[in-house]
Amino acid sequence: MSDDAKNVPPRPLSPPRALPPTRVLSGIQPTGRFHWGNYFGAIRQYIELQSVGESYFFIADLHALTTVREPERLRAFVRDAALDLVALGLDPVHAALFVQSDVPEVTELTWLLMTVTPMGLLERCHAFKDKKSRGMAADAGLFTYPVLMSADILAYDATIVPVGEDQVQHIEVCRDLAGTFNHLYGEVFTLPKPRLVEAGARVPGTDGQKMSKSYENTIEVFEEPSVQKKKIMRITTDSRPLEEPKEPEGDHLFDLFSLFAPAAEREAMAALYRRGGFGYGDVKKALVAAAADFFADARRRRAELAADPGTIDAILARGAERARAKAGDVLSRAKRACGLSRLPAQPAGGKA
Ligand code: ADP
Ligand code: TRP
Repeated sequence: MSDDAKNVPPRPLSPPRALPPTRVLSGIQPTGRFHWGNYFGAIRQYIELQSVGESYFFIADLHALTTVREPERLRAFVRDAALDLVALGLDPVHAALFVQSDVPEVTELTWLLMTVTPMGLLERCHAFKDKKSRGMAADAGLFTYPVLMSADILAYDATIVPVGEDQVQHIEVCRDLAGTFNHLYGEVFTLPKPRLVEAGARVPGTDGQKMSKSYENTIEVFEEPSVQKKKIMRITTDSRPLEEPKEPEGDHLFDLFSLFAPAAEREAMAALYRRGGFGYGDVKKALVAAAADFFADARRRRAELAADPGTIDAILARGAERARAKAGDVLSRAKRACGLSRLPAQPAGGKA
């Protein structure tokens, strides 16, 4: 050490700066049974994020109410969604798993946000715009859907929201509304960031288009193996026989197989495509086997859970309790800030 350095009094160490807590939140609509597209494009990635911090995952039944109009179907979809998510690996110890409508604080918060929502902002949102451009009647539920979604996020001080590309616009709306509210009333809400789930994870359906309920080309994660097999055997293929060598990349049957097969099997299948001399039927059979293998454990867990309804009820009840505790705090902070509560606004920094 130089003499100079010896004479300089040691600088006090600055205290380590606390990192803001990470809170992951996402929701999924119970508008049907989950299909492979939902799993690889969304659910799998939510589950991977469940242990990076506090996490909240919910079944968005209030959102689904804008499309599912049969009460018994909605009830069944919600229950199935919960069973599916837990069977697929959502761990209720790490994450609060709950049903959106079990947290009424969120609907109350929606109203507060509604009062700072410009009509023009909602008019630009694609769910509403698409429906209108197709000449369909939209209700106020669909129009204000992004406000409810904003409340879903802000109620839990979420910092990271994993979503598909189609939902990024709604997170922008959420940030806008939170920013306006904060500007008017002080630092009430935490601004969330979207986490785009793996780009390119576009799972093709049985007809080669994007797999989607709306195209009736889905293969559901937990449907009967015999039904699944029938659908797979009917997957459309191109008219060239596979006896001719063919490039696997971009072939939707190969893409589906790749989702399930370990790397070595995928490479072996790619080599077979390039070599030629075998049929699409062989690829389909390999896909049936690979998919069955991939979901075998989850299928077993799901059967066990379904046989014991009390377990899933308890998971959802506990999840709602955790969610309500957090949402209640945030709602009371927001009400105090804007003058709805007799209590004065909390001093700055009241945000936990
Ligand atoms: P659907 O198109 O069947 O109605 P949703 O719109 O309810 O499905 O999708 C729920 C989530 O699953 C979204 O986050 C979406 O990005 C994802 N997802 C749906 N279909 C696919 C697909 N084919 N490939 C990748 N991700 C998908
Ligand atoms: N709108 C989302 C979808 O259709 C579901 C959803 C509702 C959501 N509320 C949310 C997703 C809050 C993330 C955060 O996929």
